[in-house]
Amino acid sequence: MRRSRFDSTEARGFAWGALALIAPYLLEYRARIVLALACLVAAKVGSIWAPFLLKHAVDGMSAATGDWLAAAAGLIVAYGLARFANVLFGEIRDTLFGRVTEHAMRRIGLRVFEHLHALDLDFHLERRTGGLARDIERGTNGISFLMRFFVFNIAPALVEIVVVAALLAWNYGVGYAAITLASVLIYVGFSVATTEWRTAYVREANRADSASNTLAIDSLLNYETVKYFGNEAHEARRYDAELERWESARRRNRLTLFALNGGQAAIVACAMTGAMLLAAVDVNRGRMTIGDFVLVNAFMMQLFMPLNFLGMVYREIKGSLAAIEQMFGLLAVQPRITDRPGAPALAVRGAEVEFRGVSFRYHPDRPILDDVSFAIPSGSKLAVVGASGAGKSTLVKLLFRFHDPDGGAVLIDGQDIRGVTQSSLRAAIGIVPQDTVLFDDSLLENIRFGRPGASDEEVREAVRLAHLAEFVAELPAGLATRVGERGLKLSGGERQRVAIARTILKRPPILVFDEATSSLDSRSERLILDALAAIATGHTSLVIAHRLSTVVDADRIVVLAHGCVVEQGRHAELLAADGAYAALWRHQQSAAASAAAPAGEAREPVA
Ligand SMILES: Nc1ncnc2c1ncn2[C@@H]1O[C@H](COP(=O)(O)OP(=O)(O)O)[C@@H](O)[C@H]1O
Ligand SMILES: [Mg+2]
Repeated sequence: MRRSRFDSTEARGFAWGALALIAPYLLEYRARIVLALACLVAAKVGSIWAPFLLKHAVDGMSAATGDWLAAAAGLIVAYGLARFANVLFGEIRDTLFGRVTEHAMRRIGLRVFEHLHALDLDFHLERRTGGLARDIERGTNGISFLMRFFVFNIAPALVEIVVVAALLAWNYGVGYAAITLASVLIYVGFSVATTEWRTAYVREANRADSASNTLAIDSLLNYETVKYFGNEAHEARRYDAELERWESARRRNRLTLFALNGGQAAIVACAMTGAMLLAAVDVNRGRMTIGDFVLVNAFMMQLFMPLNFLGMVYREIKGSLAAIEQMFGLLAVQPRITDRPGAPALAVRGAEVEFRGVSFRYHPDRPILDDVSFAIPSGSKLAVVGASGAGKSTLVKLLFRFHDPDGGAVLIDGQDIRGVTQSSLRAAIGIVPQDTVLFDDSLLENIRFGRPGASDEEVREAVRLAHLAEFVAELPAGLATRVGERGLKLSGGERQRVAIARTILKRPPILVFDEATSSLDSRSERLILDALAAIATGHTSLVIAHRLSTVVDADRIVVLAHGCVVEQGRHAELLAADGAYAALWRHQQSAAASAAAPAGEAREPVA
């Protein structure tokens, strides 16, 4: 499989390895590549020929014998055509090759995107999304730059220099070839050395660029929070601090660029002057005609033109290579959670879930779950209650295999979930999470996300079952209403019901509700609990709840405290046992009663 190639450490080697990584993507369009190379050769023939035509025209004019005008005019027209051919074939080449590059960019961009989705949750919690997006953007743009400038400009220019040096040596002596080759070698050596020295500054500027962008995105995503706390000035100061870092990095970057470009210009000036002086001496001694002098001048100009441009481009190429390396570096990151080779799909029979002696910690020195054991028999409802931070949502993450337990195992129908494919595992479980984040799309599409193939009719049915129909009817655009970035145009309860509708559409054998009703008022909560009860019948369900009143009907209640199961049993049994659960229950009951007395409608307190 192709992926294995990128998962190796190959991409971490010298940046030029990037070219080797891109190559397989380019080779899909062999015919276009051959045509583009043919255009490249045609363009170079035009550019090497042109100075010779110019020389003959000048010599014809300076000899001034007979009807020289017609001959010179013919040569000048040919010269013009040769120059035009050079440019025209160059453009055709770029047009032909553009498609190849863009297709490669698309495939590589997709590969990185898929890989990012394959990486584990930890990676995404640690990485900043804005920074990742920029890494991909810079990487794919780097590919385009590398192709256009290195493959089709710099590399051919270096070949042209060798051909021209050979022609000069053949026609006018080794002196010209020596000047040309020596100056090019010095030039390239100087550029490489200076650019290496500059790399640290360029990287720093890029880093500062990413950091300020990430900060701006993060700050704008938290727009409401910033307003609630009136912290605009604070945010602006933080942003400005990043911008200041960026500014000074750019300043250092520019000063080093000045050194690079200045040095290059000096080398070019010396080479040009040297070659022209040599030619002047040769003309003086009669070894060269005026036409030859013009030819030497034309070649020098022509050779150093792209080289001058190499000065600027070398840095960009280095930058592109670094960006490509960075992007392929993402591909080299191995997901911590992987399917075992040849893992079978989960075979769901009754959908019995079991946590067997599960211990887990996010950080080595902070245990979160300690030897947690409970089973949810097929088709029954188990509730997990406990204080915030007790580790309830962590149980859900382990069930979905976002992390693997450090000890013990999670089993579904007797199969350790580490031994089955992640896709089959996740297909078997539906969740209404604690916070639902939506896509910036219509309500319809957000709900259809539960099962992308579902018909509009099925979506409408799910809307009805999730008690969203009334809300949708009030919207002028109905299901076509867009929900805004992250779904922030909906209230928490509405988002929650969208999540329920999604899960209804998915209809998995195992259902998980992670404080699914915690952001609802008691009326909508009642409606949703009914809806949930209806979809949960016959399904194995794991209900995590803050409010005990929502779980009194559970077949089994597990009380979690500091990562340990402290009690488990039915509601009545736990009350009778008069332990932690009973205490919590009494506390919530009395709080609810005192809240209900003045306000009329009871609102359950948050434990
Ligand atoms: N990705 C993470 N990395 C480190 N610590 C985490 C992470 N996710 C949750 N925690 C910590 O684990 C503990 C349990 O979290 P969680 O299971 O979400 O609690 P809750 O019972 O409220 O759902 C919390 O103290 C939380 O800070
Ligand atoms: Mg939680």
